[in-house]
Amino acid sequence: MTIHFIGAGPGAADLITLRGRDLIAACPVCLYAGSLVPEALLAHCPPGARIVNTASLDLDAIIAEMAAAHAAGKDVARLHSGDLSVWSAMGEQLRRLRALDIPYDVTPGVPSFAAAAATLQAELTLPGVAQSVVLTRTSGRASAMPEGEALENFARTGAVLCIHLSVHVLENVVETLVPHYGADCPVAVVWRASWPDERVVRATLGTLRTAIGAEMERTALIMVGRSLGATDFDESRLYAGDYDRRYRPVGTAPRFPGT
Ligand SMILES: C[S@@+](CC[C@H](N)C(=O)[O-])C[C@H]1O[C@@H](n2cnc3c(N)ncnc32)[C@H](O)[C@@H]1O
Repeated sequence: MTIHFIGAGPGAADLITLRGRDLIAACPVCLYAGSLVPEALLAHCPPGARIVNTASLDLDAIIAEMAAAHAAGKDVARLHSGDLSVWSAMGEQLRRLRALDIPYDVTPGVPSFAAAAATLQAELTLPGVAQSVVLTRTSGRASAMPEGEALENFARTGAVLCIHLSVHVLENVVETLVPHYGADCPVAVVWRASWPDERVVRATLGTLRTAIGAEMERTALIMVGRSLGATDFDESRLYAGDYDRRYRPVGTAPRFPGT
């Protein structure tokens, strides 16, 4: 038997991979991180499945659920919101499972930054404007930021920032970013991207506070960068008519003849 860690996506029940959905359907046990995983996904569980919301369990209790399923020879679907590679607490579970010699695998999911960018209909990496995207957060009660990863340090690069877990400290975020990006830099806050009650505010760093008002819901991403809403950017060389490439040779002496 195997513990299948599955990225459950950002919220919409159909933003899960086919592999993830099929694994849920094949597992007699489903453990899901209740606060952000859409309950509609649980409809894929087989009849009679043991379904446990782990929001109120500590790590010991979660691992005990997995160990009990393992002892009973049952596969487990372990659901976390978005993708598992960022802020999923998967790492500590895998470490415990390795120590217990319990097998596991990992199926990726749609991360919330990608869902928020889709809501904004934005390519974050526009040629000549921005070519890097930073997924980051600010310090929280449970997790301090490692030295060197202060928001200010990322802001110095001018990259597009996707700031998680931080909408409650929006004013500090804006204050930190304005000196680097300028008050006219576009910013968007996307709450609950892809959920039915999704909400978006677009503004500039200078106008954001007023634009948002008293919104307190915490499941939100702050996206900052010059590529948001930019119209004055270069076209990609890859698709330029005169750009000689392997799949579209150009001219009398192409660089990749006959490939
Ligand atoms: C514990 S982290 C989980 C991140 C997740 N693993 C991912 O791939 O995006 C939770 C934070 O991610 C962001 N988030 C998660 N789902 C979101 C959504 N649907 N819309 C906007 N932000 C979301 C928020 O910043 C939230 O505070």
